[in-house]
Order: sequence, then C-alpha cells, then structure tokens
Amino acid sequence: MTESTPVDPTSTDAWKALAGIADGFSPDLRGWFASDADRAERYTFQAADLTVDLSKGLVTEEILGHLLQVAKDADVSGRYQAMITGEHINVTEDRAVLHTALRRPEGTEGLVPPTGFVVDGEDVDAEVHKTLDKVYAFAEQVRSGAWTGVTGKRIETVVNIGIGGSDLGPVMVYEALKPYVQPGLEARFVSNIDPTDVYEKTADLDPETTLFIVASKTFGTLETLTNARLAREWLWARLAGSGAIADTDAARKDAVAKHFVAVSTALDKVEAFGIDPENAFGFWDWVGGRYSVDSAIGTSVVIAIGPDNWREFLAGFHAIDEHMRTAPLEQNVPVLMGLLNVWYSNFLGAQSHAVLPYAQYLHRFPAYLQQLTMESNGKSVRWDGSPVTTDTGEIFWGEPGTNGQHAFYQLIHQGTRLIPADFIAVANPAHALKDETGDGAAVEPGQDVHELFMANFFAQTKALAFGKTADEVRAEGTKESVVPARVFSGNRPTSSILAPALTPSVVGQLIALYEHIVFTEGTIWGIDSFDQWGVELGKQLALQVTPAVAGDQAAIDSQDASTKSLIEKYLALRK
Ligand code: F6P
Repeated sequence: MTESTPVDPTSTDAWKALAGIADGFSPDLRGWFASDADRAERYTFQAADLTVDLSKGLVTEEILGHLLQVAKDADVSGRYQAMITGEHINVTEDRAVLHTALRRPEGTEGLVPPTGFVVDGEDVDAEVHKTLDKVYAFAEQVRSGAWTGVTGKRIETVVNIGIGGSDLGPVMVYEALKPYVQPGLEARFVSNIDPTDVYEKTADLDPETTLFIVASKTFGTLETLTNARLAREWLWARLAGSGAIADTDAARKDAVAKHFVAVSTALDKVEAFGIDPENAFGFWDWVGGRYSVDSAIGTSVVIAIGPDNWREFLAGFHAIDEHMRTAPLEQNVPVLMGLLNVWYSNFLGAQSHAVLPYAQYLHRFPAYLQQLTMESNGKSVRWDGSPVTTDTGEIFWGEPGTNGQHAFYQLIHQGTRLIPADFIAVANPAHALKDETGDGAAVEPGQDVHELFMANFFAQTKALAFGKTADEVRAEGTKESVVPARVFSGNRPTSSILAPALTPSVVGQLIALYEHIVFTEGTIWGIDSFDQWGVELGKQLALQVTPAVAGDQAAIDSQDASTKSLIEKYLALRK
C-alpha cells in the first residue's frame, strides 16, 4: 500500500474561501456575460478533438482560482502521475490502477512512463500489446470468415455475455460506433440474470453462425456464468436438435470450442467451464471492470468494427490521457470539469448530474457513466479508512436529447433542484438526412435535420443559462396570473462538449474524459475510486436468500420479517 493520509479538502484555505462565496451565492450568467466580452472564449477549452465550453457554468475567476487551488492541495497531478506509473493507488485491494496502459501506443519515444515499464514484475506494455495482437488476430479470423462455427458456417452474430463493466462498456461502444460495424456482422449483449434476457437475445439466432464471448474479469460472477451455461445449453440443444451435431459429449465439446471464447483474468476458471485457454483473452487485476472497455473486454466490438478502428479508438483515449498528464491545470479539461462538479455538489447542493448526448448513437453513454462514476465515487470512507469529510459521488443520469426535452427537462429548467448538465454533440452526423418536404411553416423544404437537432442543443443550454424574466414573459402578452409559471430563472449550469464527428477516436476521448473527471473528484475527496466493496453485501445475501426463494422452509424462517413475508407472497403467486 502506498497511499498515505489524504488531505482533508475542507480544512484548506481554498475550500473555506469557496464556502464563504457559496454562502448567499447569487449567480448571474446574464450579468457575467454582459460585463465580460471574453467570457465565452476564456472558458472554452480544447482537449484533443473535444471543444469544451464551460462558460455557462456558475463560475467566476475568483471561484475558479480557489477550485484550482483545491486541485493543487489534493495533488491531483501528482496522484495521476502515481497512477500511470503503477503505484498501488487502489489501496483497499492493494493494486496498481493502469487502465491508461491499455491504450499506450507501443514503442513511441518520450512516453511517460517509458515503454517497457515494469509493474509488480510485469512488463505492462508488452503484456498489453501481446493480448491486443491476439484479440486482433482472432477478430480478423471471424471477420474474414476463416473462423467458422462447428458446421463450417461463418459467424454472423457475436453475443457478449457479461455484466457491469464487462457489458456496459462494450454495448455502449458498439452502439456508438454502429456505422463502423462490418456488414453481415451483428453483436448482441446479454447481461441480466432475468432469464428473459438470454431468451430474447438468442430466440431468433442460428446457433451455427453464433459466437458467444463470455466476458468476466473474475469469471465468478453469478449472472454471467449462469447466462453462459444457459447459452451453452441453448447451443447444444439447437445444434443437436437440428441434427447439425451428434448428441454426444465429444460433439458438444467441439461445439463449445468453435462457439465459445472468453475474456477474463482467471484463465483456470475459463478452462474449467470448458473453454480452451487458447480461445481466451486475458487481462490483469490492475484494470477495474468499469475501466476495462479498452482491454480484451471489448473483443465483441473489435470483431464488429475491426482492428483498425479499434486502434483509432485507443488512440482517442491516449490523446486525453496525454492532455490530462501535460495540460496545465488551468487548461486541463478533465480537471476543470471535475472541479466544477465539486463546486456544484459540495458547495451549491447539487445531488445529481445529467449527461445529455445530442447524438442518438450515444444513447447508452449515460448508463455507462453511471457505473463509471457511481461505482467509483460512491464511497463514505477515504483511502485510509477514515470517514469522508464532505459529500461524495453525484448521481449521474441522462438520456439523449431531444428525447429528454420532452420528458424530464421541465425539472432541470424550472424545478427546485440544481442539476448541472453536460451537453454532448457532434458537428457531423453519420447519416445526413434532409426533410425534403418541410412543414410549410417552421421547417423549410430541404431542411438539414441535423441542423434542427443542433438548434435544440444550442437552445437548451441558452435557455438554462439565461432563462426568461417576468418582464419578458409579460412583453409576450401573457396574462399576469400565468406569468410566474412561465418565468425561467436561468443560472442553471451546463457544460457543452462538441466534437467533429462520432469517430472511434472521439468515443475513446469521451470515455477517457469522464474517467479523469472521476479521478479528479475522487482524489479531492480522498477516496479510493477503484474498489467497489459496496456491491458485495447484496451478492452475498442473494446466495443466502436463494434457498428460501426455492421454497426451503428453514431458509424462509431465517429471514427478517419483511423479507420472509415478501418471499411468502412471491411463493403464493408462483404457478
Ligand atoms: O458487482 C460489481 C462488479 O464487480 C463490477 O465492478 C464489474 O464490472 C462487474 O461486477 C462484473 O464483474 P466481472 O467482470 O468479474 O464478471
């Protein structure tokens, strides 16, 4: 273990100064913009391809100065350096945290740490690139048709079986990069132990053209292993049922060899499941599940989009890693966004944070971020075991715009809660469509629909920032009794992230951006963002409750009164 007692941010002068400013704080984005012609430019930053406008945030030079001091006091830069050089900053699991090594290009001069660096006796880069090469070679075989199912047919559907970090990352990236998927190939994702998930995802599949990837860091996760067994049974039953294979152990073994591969750090368990370790792709305990999408856990996506696009995806991550490492704090986008989050949640009382992609292909990004942010920073103790000294871990949530506009934006615009929001958009859509007809009123014939979409992106942040005063409402002829309901207070903070297009690189950049925002906040709060002990109790209790759910009376009787009563009612409802 290498980390010492964390700095208590609340004891620093900068924190106290921020608390003083927050007391009676009365933001005035209209006034701030009116009196400062450079505000938009000054608070717009570049990180690789991402243009990030923080000017509609509730921040002034004074506030930002103190926030930057908070980052310095917590030594965000020093701890980032410790992370990327393999120090065991995951203290409670005594592990290095090296997801940045997963995307470090091989053999480039001037890398920090240098290529070939050894952590815990292991040449990290060599291991990473050996595995990547194996994944690439396998993906090429599947993509070219050289890898076939047991009856000689080429693979058409890849089904990733995993949960949490072994699902959310691959499914999010697959959805984000749909335009890059090789025609004739499809990926599906089974995660939930609700049996309807595996049923629905396999019901219409041809077993002869289906490849399952069992993705589990530990290869011990109940949901994933149960679903993997269900999938194996499905494969055997369908193949034998159609006469494609004989109903023998040997034939079943051959079928598993051609239709199952695995991604795991526990290759012994992979073998015990019946998957040839030759068909398994490893990774390392220094990669957390929610930081693993750029490891072999992404094999389903590598197959779908191909190694060249995957390399571009990794390069995107690396560009942001380098930005995080080298940009001065005042220009460092993940640090600045992390600091703003601290300001909103620790000083201005924000409980949650919305992420609103104006890019339909990013529709799973908020769900992905929920694990990244909340499993990382939902902690009540610091890395030395002492209680945290301030609130941690905002609730991340969101949906793509414009859908969200017609659902929950009302509360963001006019509710009583402060909800900082990140708006994410790309300038060039994958499919540029025109509304050739128009509506004869607001929409002209030939209107580019992406422009309509983007008009909403810009309009929403504008409305949230500047609102609408009672006088402006009155000037529209609104009757006095309705004026209050139509007033928008404004001063609702947003950050706007704009990228040229949703390329593999940009998707990698967005993920890395949020990884480092999480890192910045976790460091300031003094918490270990890389363990997840909070998910263990529920897992243990599920195993303890299972016999009761199956009707074992002694197990039912051993439950607390509420759980016992619920299980009894459930059993009474069972047919
Ligand atoms: O239960 C939480 C968790 O451990 C996540 O951190 C992880 O991403 C997920 O379960 C899946 O774990 P595994 O990849 O080991 O199956």
